[in-house]
Amino acid sequence: MKITMIGTGYVGLVTGACFSEFGHNVICVDKIAEKIKNLTDGIVPIYEPGLENIVSKNVLEKRLKFTTELSEAVASADAVFIAVGTPSSRRGDGYADLTYIYEAVREFAQYLEGYTVIVTKSTVPVGTARQVARLVKEVNPDADFDVASNPEFLREGAAINDFMRPDRVVIGVESDKAAQILKKIYNPLYLIETPIVKTGIETAELIKYASNAFLAVKISFINEMAAICEAVGADAIALAKAIGLDKRIGGKFLHPGPGYGGSCFPKDTLALMRIFQEHGHSARIVEAAVEVNAAQKAKMVKKIRDAIGGNEAGKTIAVLGLTFKPETDDMRDAPSTTILPALLEKGARIKAHDPQGVKEAAKYLPSEITYVEDPYIACENADAVVLLTEWNQYRALDLQKIKSTMISPIFVDLRNVYHPKQMKEIGFTYVGVGRS
Ligand code: UDX
Repeated sequence: MKITMIGTGYVGLVTGACFSEFGHNVICVDKIAEKIKNLTDGIVPIYEPGLENIVSKNVLEKRLKFTTELSEAVASADAVFIAVGTPSSRRGDGYADLTYIYEAVREFAQYLEGYTVIVTKSTVPVGTARQVARLVKEVNPDADFDVASNPEFLREGAAINDFMRPDRVVIGVESDKAAQILKKIYNPLYLIETPIVKTGIETAELIKYASNAFLAVKISFINEMAAICEAVGADAIALAKAIGLDKRIGGKFLHPGPGYGGSCFPKDTLALMRIFQEHGHSARIVEAAVEVNAAQKAKMVKKIRDAIGGNEAGKTIAVLGLTFKPETDDMRDAPSTTILPALLEKGARIKAHDPQGVKEAAKYLPSEITYVEDPYIACENADAVVLLTEWNQYRALDLQKIKSTMISPIFVDLRNVYHPKQMKEIGFTYVGVGRS
């Protein structure tokens, strides 16, 4: 199959590279010439384990190309995937900003030749695929095409595996012809018996929002439970394990922490709330999850403050992990972006370490933060350590060494990486989330 991917952001790049790994011929188009040049040379602009290998290999084997030229890429395609950004609108009202999608469609529609399936891959509000169809007809009334929705469910840091071994693939289509092309594209997944869920277009568009909102609800639920566990002396980790063993509940996404962040949950929950409102409904459960998540970040500030004696002014805090989760350099809506400014504002000094995210972090965080290249250096002469992102390299720290270089041995573990009993035995004043 000949596939054109419009947009080489996170989703476009991973999807395009993985389709070429399936054996399809893929052309990825982006407006940023420097990015395209780098990608052609095998330089990948984001940190995603395994991606660079797949890109280099398929470029070398000529199944994957990068270009700024839409015309040729679109004319020869069996399917054009739209994977441009859909950030929250600049009005700050939760709506997804579809400017880039419509801009891309206006530009590429004129180049369509022969039958083409136009697929929305970016997360878009219900009705967007139909809007895309309307726009294409307006720009190119003779175009022979169908629209389809094929939402992505890629987790950053695990995107290649999620793509190659997904729980399911969702295809929102209205014509058999479009369905056949999409099925051919995903044929390697059929062979490993991946469920391919075929739905109408609106259903597919809503599935993505419903999945992410449900996961956000799960996280906020366990974060609320964590608070009550702390109040009554219970253990939220044991509680999550026990409820998760009920197959109807499931154990995933029940880890208490500093609140969810990233490029999807915060944006998609707000966008879903707007979709409900537009149709005269309210998404009360999702609204509550969003509120609880914002409160959770504020609670973490208080947790750190209380741990260091109620006042962070003049205290040095070592922060381990800045990105919204491990195995990514993504800082979008990372809990660090709300927690650290609040501590700085009250006069704390911050020394931070992150294995991959420092370059990105510097764009999102106040300039007073000192970045260091080693977690042990971050902890030297610190009044407290805050473990904020659970990178693997923080799971087996030499805790004796850390304790011996700190001013006071206070360890605030916002990801529950360590065990309270062991930490106390080593001599730390240890604070987790949902257990003590
Ligand atoms: C998510 C979805 O999982 C993916 O399917 C979707 O398409 C894009 O959004 P991603 O944002 O990459 O993926 O990360 P994910 O692993 O889902 O974590 C999201 C946030 O939730 C992170 O901030 C993470 O730390 C937090 N989280 C996750 C918890 O706090 N507790 C958990 O139990 C799980």
